[in-house]
Amino acid sequence: MLSPRVLSFLFLLFTLTSQANAKPEYPYAVCITEGGDYAPDSTYQTNLHTVLSRIISDTQIDYGFYNSSYGQDSDRVYATGLCRGDVTPLTCLTCLNNSRLLLLKQCPHQKRAVGGYGECMLHYSYRSVLGYYDSDFRVYLRSETNVTDWDQYSYALKKLLPVLKGKIATTDSYLKRKYASGNATGPDSQAVYASVQCAPDLTVAECNDC
Ligand SMILES: *[C@@H]1O[C@H](CO)[C@@H](O)[C@H](O)[C@H]1NC(C)=O
Ligand SMILES: *[C@@H]1O[C@H](CO)[C@@H](O)[C@H](O)[C@H]1NC(C)=O
Ligand SMILES: *[C@@H]1O[C@H](CO)[C@@H](O)[C@H](O)[C@H]1NC(C)=O
Ligand SMILES: *[C@@H]1O[C@H](CO)[C@@H](O)[C@H](O)[C@H]1NC(C)=O
Repeated sequence: MLSPRVLSFLFLLFTLTSQANAKPEYPYAVCITEGGDYAPDSTYQTNLHTVLSRIISDTQIDYGFYNSSYGQDSDRVYATGLCRGDVTPLTCLTCLNNSRLLLLKQCPHQKRAVGGYGECMLHYSYRSVLGYYDSDFRVYLRSETNVTDWDQYSYALKKLLPVLKGKIATTDSYLKRKYASGNATGPDSQAVYASVQCAPDLTVAECNDC
């Protein structure tokens, strides 16, 4: 279903209607086998729990991107958390906490995993995940809602997405939020909403490529 080797931090989320929802939606979890497994009650597992606890209890960061690492040598665990650019720090941390529970459940042995919900993405690994970029990695989150006219819908998106990409490119700054959202008129005069985001540790060139 998903190539485990490949990975990049990008959200691309389309919805016909935008609605705030407290219930976590669009769960996804990718257990990456490349890094191997950790044993139950191992130092790696302890360090993993520590690093994830640190991320979800951070009170300093307000721009939706968290990174942390913990442990020594081959037991060192690296993690990053990224939230959609329009969510508050509280929503972000709640989402990352839910993602932590999701990943530890879905990927109970793997040293590497990535996943989350529509509003956030959590990634942990035995090696640094900062600046990690792989344009082949894809996760599709499908809405239950069918579009009434695919041609019109995709036409609206094809015009909107380059505009959003352009917005990100002009607000370039390393470690700053790389997020843009907008809307266009789609089928039946309904609005089509889109948002585009890269992790702040990617360069604008990498972001654009993705
Ligand atoms: C994380 O979620 C669990 C389960 O819902 C909850 O018990 C815990 O208090 C949450 N932790 C934080 C820091 O929000
Ligand atoms: C969407 O379209 C598919 C394929 O035509 C159909 O099976 C499905 O029931 C539709 N879903 C809704 C919510 O209308
Ligand atoms: C839709 O986009 C226009 C600008 O193109 C903006 O003024 C408006 O606030 C947007 N609407 C929503 C609901 O995002
Ligand atoms: C990662 O965390 C370190 C230490 O907390 C911080 O100095 C650094 O700026 C962070 N990097 C990114 C890309 O957020």
